[in-house]
Amino acid sequence: MDLPAILARIVAEMRDAPDRGAVARYIPSLAGVDPARFGIAIVTADGDTFMGGDANIGFSIQSISKVFSLTLALGKVGDRLWERVGREPSGNSFNSIVQLEAEKGIPRNPFINAGAIVLADVNLAGHLPREAIGELLQFVRYLAADDSIAIDEAVARSEEQTGERNRALAHFMKSYGTVQHEPDPVLGTYFHACAIEMSCRQLAQAGRFLMLGGRHPEGGNVVSARRARRILSLMLTCGHYDASGDFAFRVGMPGKSGVGGGILAVVPGRASIAVWSPGLNPSGNSQLGGLALERLAEATGWSIF
Ligand code: DON
Repeated sequence: MDLPAILARIVAEMRDAPDRGAVARYIPSLAGVDPARFGIAIVTADGDTFMGGDANIGFSIQSISKVFSLTLALGKVGDRLWERVGREPSGNSFNSIVQLEAEKGIPRNPFINAGAIVLADVNLAGHLPREAIGELLQFVRYLAADDSIAIDEAVARSEEQTGERNRALAHFMKSYGTVQHEPDPVLGTYFHACAIEMSCRQLAQAGRFLMLGGRHPEGGNVVSARRARRILSLMLTCGHYDASGDFAFRVGMPGKSGVGGGILAVVPGRASIAVWSPGLNPSGNSQLGGLALERLAEATGWSIF
């Protein structure tokens, strides 16, 4: 399989794509990102890296951080996490509050905002917010084997100033006890996780443990093979919110999107892939990122189905 040629073709097709979606505006510091950007990076199971377009430019990983927060939270409390977060697709938008009242303050899954705020609450236990944030950042650096990964403080501040929906979710869940700490430090932890900046290359590197059955490519286990499988199953069923079914249908890979326009997609045993294009479709997922992965799956046969 000629991956460099496949990537070159996809990059050229994405450069000419007429419908690039719309850059997220509800987080002011994301609104100025150039919609013409497109990057893709693939790390294969044998350790080769292939890149195209803007694969080395950093972007805000936003909700993709929920994969790393989930992995950390499971490491801390194991299956007790599922007493506070569900494992079902929500069928609603990523920041929806509607199900929480009928479902006793328990978010449908860890990848909607409400679920990730619970992850932040779990990861905050016993820590000051800056320690919890530092722990997550260190974890991501370890996964990607790259100590240069950092948090974009301007993005974190921007979210802090405009995050009324998230604030509502946190306070609502606090009233049910699903969130146990004070909402402000929990939200601070959550916003900083979303504001981690990474390039496609760094993100594809960070996803390697999920491709390798939980193993870190440089030695040792990050999680068990069973946990890696379970995280991937949640990415497949919930990673694109109410468009998760469509992503599974078109691409057929476990994937997690973020409103910064990134998507991390993992083909178990074969490849860890990151794409980035800032324009979003109406569900809040990268328009060209999804299209590029669809073309990649067609060209490589990497759909898991
Ligand atoms: O809390 C928010 O709304 C953002 N920090 C993250 C949302 C997000 O990335 C949804 N993804 N497609």
